[in-house]
Amino acid sequence: MIKREKIKDLLDTTVFNKEVTVMGWVRTFRNNQFIALNDGSCMGNIQIVVDFTNTPEELLKRITTGAALAVKGTIVESLGKGQKVDIKASSIEILGDSNAEQYPLQPKKHSLEFLREIAHLRFRTNTFNAVFKVRHALAFAIHQFYNERGFVYMHTPVVTASDAEGAGEMFKVTTLDFDNTPRTEDGKVDFSADFFGRATNLTVSGQLEGELAATAFGQIYTFGPTFRAENSNTTRHLAEFWMIEPEVAFADLEDNMQLAEDMMKYIINYALVNCKEEIAFLNDRLLDEEKQKPQQERSELTLIEKLNFCLANDFERLTYTEAIQILKHSKPNQKKQFKYLIDEWGADLQSEHERYLVEKHFKKPVILTDYPKDIKSFYMRMNEDGKTVAAMDVLFPGIGEMIGGSQREERLDKLTKRMEEMDIPQDELWWYLDTRRFGSVPHAGFGLGFERLVLFVTGMTNIRDVIAFPRFPKNADF
Ligand code: 4AD
Ligand code: MG
Repeated sequence: MIKREKIKDLLDTTVFNKEVTVMGWVRTFRNNQFIALNDGSCMGNIQIVVDFTNTPEELLKRITTGAALAVKGTIVESLGKGQKVDIKASSIEILGDSNAEQYPLQPKKHSLEFLREIAHLRFRTNTFNAVFKVRHALAFAIHQFYNERGFVYMHTPVVTASDAEGAGEMFKVTTLDFDNTPRTEDGKVDFSADFFGRATNLTVSGQLEGELAATAFGQIYTFGPTFRAENSNTTRHLAEFWMIEPEVAFADLEDNMQLAEDMMKYIINYALVNCKEEIAFLNDRLLDEEKQKPQQERSELTLIEKLNFCLANDFERLTYTEAIQILKHSKPNQKKQFKYLIDEWGADLQSEHERYLVEKHFKKPVILTDYPKDIKSFYMRMNEDGKTVAAMDVLFPGIGEMIGGSQREERLDKLTKRMEEMDIPQDELWWYLDTRRFGSVPHAGFGLGFERLVLFVTGMTNIRDVIAFPRFPKNADF
């Protein structure tokens, strides 16, 4: 076993003159004397003081930005400002060279756009160290939240024959050899011969399988990758994203809203308590970014204030119909950047409408409920009015739709009628309909887009910066 100390544990140590070994990557090397070494355990670097008069020239040349080193030395009080300790090196071993001319991560501030092009190396920056530590903590907090409440974590399949949303935005999974595959008359690949004789796709949601499990265990959640074959090039959409989908039996829309609000507050609080250093760093990063903007476009709250505000206030709850009234009476933004007005009951809300409601009108998270049935999925429970369904979307400032969910239609006749109206083939979902045939109960659930959560908590603005290897149109190399 290689024995090493983590830099995180050394930066605050009060034990001096102790011999230690650290391993990490060079961030900078100044005056042939001071190495800033980072091992990923924290954003901070430890300073290695090199006795360059007694170090061979050959070795000094190989200490370049990006090189991996093993350093043995003693902990001494730092002479520099901003750090408590240094390591006075007694031996330096090069574990991996890094050609200084070719290494893309030079010791300077890089733009996020540039770093996106080198996503395979961007973890080595402080920003991405902080973002992915927060992402880790949020994932952990979600499991802890559901575990504490007695939910069962279900792994739903990635490859499936069903379209859970009925929206047709699926990636096909094929075992076909395109060169030797049967073709239809017009020369197109015959996909009916897919997946060893069965047409399949990558899952868009684990919800339908989740409902099967919830109507046995009572309360479950999924947490896994989901896929949407939509050609969206926005800062809020990915082709592959992670979703958390709780599903609860004997629950209605009211319970669903409460669960969503409790969960959001629990995990945001967890991140604030457990990622203090990372969130403070991201807070300062955002302040710097805001300074570049004209005064009137700057955010009123800092990242930390925004997160605390979200914890301290109830989410606003209102129906779609009430939201339309507010939008109808809203005035378009002076600069005409946003057209807030919406005249038509029944139209889907555009992101500018959602942003108006959360950022300008209520200035806090909003839960919108009871949407018109025609803009929502087939499985949502029909309300008494016959026009709206027991849907809910949770909207967040700066994000828009964070969560989408509903109470489910548990009445077999109503569900099959709706499927007929919406052209959803019942024979393909016979197993789903069985939950309504055998011991059907009121139940509800929702899906939280994990990357949108990470965006909100880190204050990052592009979804491609909060998932390690983003998948979006034409981007799948690494
Ligand atoms: O609203 P959606 O499509 O709902 C469902 O898939 C339901 N089956 C969930 C359920 O009730 N169990 O997606 C849920 C959430 C959205 O609110 C959004 O946060 C996120 O998933 N999402 C995306 N995130 C990133 N990229 C995309 N292309 C996304 N599409 C949805
Ligand atoms: Mg949705």
